[in-house]
Amino acid sequence: MYKALVIYYSQSGNTKKMAESVVEGIKKEGLEVVLKEAKDTEASELLKYEAIIIGSPTYYGTMAAEIKKIFDDSVSFHGKLDGKIGAAFASSANIGGGNETTILDILNAMLIHGMIIQGDPQGDHYGPVAIGAPDARSTRECVRLGTRVAKLVKKLGG
Ligand SMILES: Cc1cc2nc3c(=O)[nH]c(=O)nc-3n(C[C@H](O)[C@H](O)[C@H](O)COP(=O)(O)O)c2cc1C
Repeated sequence: MYKALVIYYSQSGNTKKMAESVVEGIKKEGLEVVLKEAKDTEASELLKYEAIIIGSPTYYGTMAAEIKKIFDDSVSFHGKLDGKIGAAFASSANIGGGNETTILDILNAMLIHGMIIQGDPQGDHYGPVAIGAPDARSTRECVRLGTRVAKLVKKLGG
């Protein structure tokens, strides 16, 4: 069975709520999914999953240090994530507060690992964004991301 890993960092719970909605979307498609906080995640765990989805609050327009640490630690197995599917989501305080640059920074690291990223022509193009606590729109986008990633895993065969 294909497995997906959703990792998040969240100080005040906004990104955590988004992560839970992403998990809901993945489950809808029948994939096995594990939800983990960044602090409880060893970089090497990424190797066990077909899809890796990472969520971060926007900190000065980029990912939180706890998420960056996982990427930096992943250099010890550089090349081994080649062909896995990746996706990202972010929460910020303000519209124009840097959610999209945060997502693109995460996707950038995933691309350097050789991971496969799917954009979205209808929903949030780079990945779901929320301003503060996720509202109904953001929640829908998170579920949609989970569903789309799971469908892509099944299509590509892991
Ligand atoms: C160190 C730090 C830097 C932040 N930088 C930004 C920023 O650049 N733009 C923004 O809109 N919000 C910024 N914020 C606000 C958070 O991104 C926002 O509150 C987010 O929803 C927190 O997510 P969480 O509840 O998952 O911790 C910052 C917060 C902190 C603590």
